[in-house]
Amino acid sequence: MAGACPPSLSIAVANAGGMGACGALLMSPASIAAWVEEFRRHSSGPFQINLWIPDPAPHRDPQAEARQREFLALWGPAVPEEMGQGVLPDFTAQCQALLAARPKVISSIMGLFPPEFVAEMKASGILWFATATTVDEARAAEAAGADAIIAQGAEAGGHRGSFDCEEAETQATGLFALLPQVCDAVSIPVVAAGGIADGRAVAAALLLGASAVLVGTGLLRSPEAKLPAAYAARLAQTAPHETRLTRAFSGRAGRAVRTGYVEAAASPNAPPPAPYPVQRGFTRLMREEAVRAEDAERMQMWAGQAARLAQARPAAEIVHGLWEDAALLLGC
Ligand SMILES: Cc1cc2nc3c(=O)[nH]c(=O)nc-3n(C[C@H](O)[C@H](O)[C@H](O)COP(=O)(O)O)c2cc1C
Repeated sequence: MAGACPPSLSIAVANAGGMGACGALLMSPASIAAWVEEFRRHSSGPFQINLWIPDPAPHRDPQAEARQREFLALWGPAVPEEMGQGVLPDFTAQCQALLAARPKVISSIMGLFPPEFVAEMKASGILWFATATTVDEARAAEAAGADAIIAQGAEAGGHRGSFDCEEAETQATGLFALLPQVCDAVSIPVVAAGGIADGRAVAAALLLGASAVLVGTGLLRSPEAKLPAAYAARLAQTAPHETRLTRAFSGRAGRAVRTGYVEAAASPNAPPPAPYPVQRGFTRLMREEAVRAEDAERMQMWAGQAARLAQARPAAEIVHGLWEDAALLLGC
C-alpha cells in the first residue's frame, strides 16, 4: 500500500506468519533500500515490493488543468502549475533498487513488467506476482511469465489495477465473480484481493480457488500501520456504500471514503480531474494540509468496501485471527 506501508506493519505481519509488503511507487531507490534494511533488522520473514507499471505520458490540456487548479484552491492552498511536473520517481532506477533488495516477491499493478526486467527477476530467483482485474489481464500476465496472479476485485481499497486506465470503472468486477473465473483461466496460483477483512472472507476466497489472500484496508487500523488518527477512526464508521471509485486524488481510479472533497469532485459541476499522475501532483498540497489539520473531509482516505470490518488491534493479532477463524470455518 503505497504511502501506507511503514516497515512496522510488514514486520508485524511477517513475524505473525504472513508476507510483508512495501508499496514502492513513491519511493526513491535510497528509500527502498532503507525500508528493506529496517524490515530485515526486525524480521527474517518474507516480503514483497510492489511497483506500478508507468502509463504513457499524459495528454496535457492547460485550460482544463487551470480549471482543476482553481477548484482545488477551494479545498486547500493555491496550486502552482508546476505541481503537475515530476510527480513520480524514475521507474527504471526503482526496478534496479528492487533487484538489489532481493525480496522474495516483486509485485506489479497497472500492467506488465517489460520482458527484460522479468528475465532479470527470474535470474535473481525473485517471484513475480502480477495484479489483474479481469480474466484477460490474468491470462496476459501468465503468458508474460508471472508466477502468481493477484485477482483484485472492485471492492478493494486504493487504486484499481486496470491495465487500461480508462477502463477502471467500466471493468469494475466483484471478487466473487472474478476470482473463480481467474482460477479457471490460469494454471498458476491466485491471490485474492478486495474486501477481505475477516475469517469468513478468507475462507470464502480459499473455497473459490484462491491459494492466499491479500489484506489491505483490514490492516489499516492496526497501530503498526501508523495511519493519521482521523483516517483510522473514519474507517470504523465507513459502510460499504460510503466508499466510491474516484479519480479526484490522482487521476487514476481508486476506491476511497466518500468525503466532502470526493463528493464535491464527483458533482456534475466540478471540472474533471487532470490525468494521472498530474492530478496526484495537483492534490499534494491539499492532502498534506488535511493531514496536518486532521481534516478527514479533505484527506486522501483509500478504503475498501469492508472498511468497517477492519479491527483496531495489533497486526499480529489480526493475522492470527484471520487464519484461525478461516481454519475453523473450513474445518482444518
Ligand atoms: C492505502 C492503500 C494503498 C494501496 N496502494 C497500493 C499500491 O501501491 N500498489 C498496489 O498494488 N495496490 C495498492 N493498494 C491495493 C491493495 O494492494 C489491495 O488490492 C487492496 O487493499 C485489497 O482490498 P482491501 O483494501 O479491501 O483489502 C492499496 C490499497 C490501499 C488501501
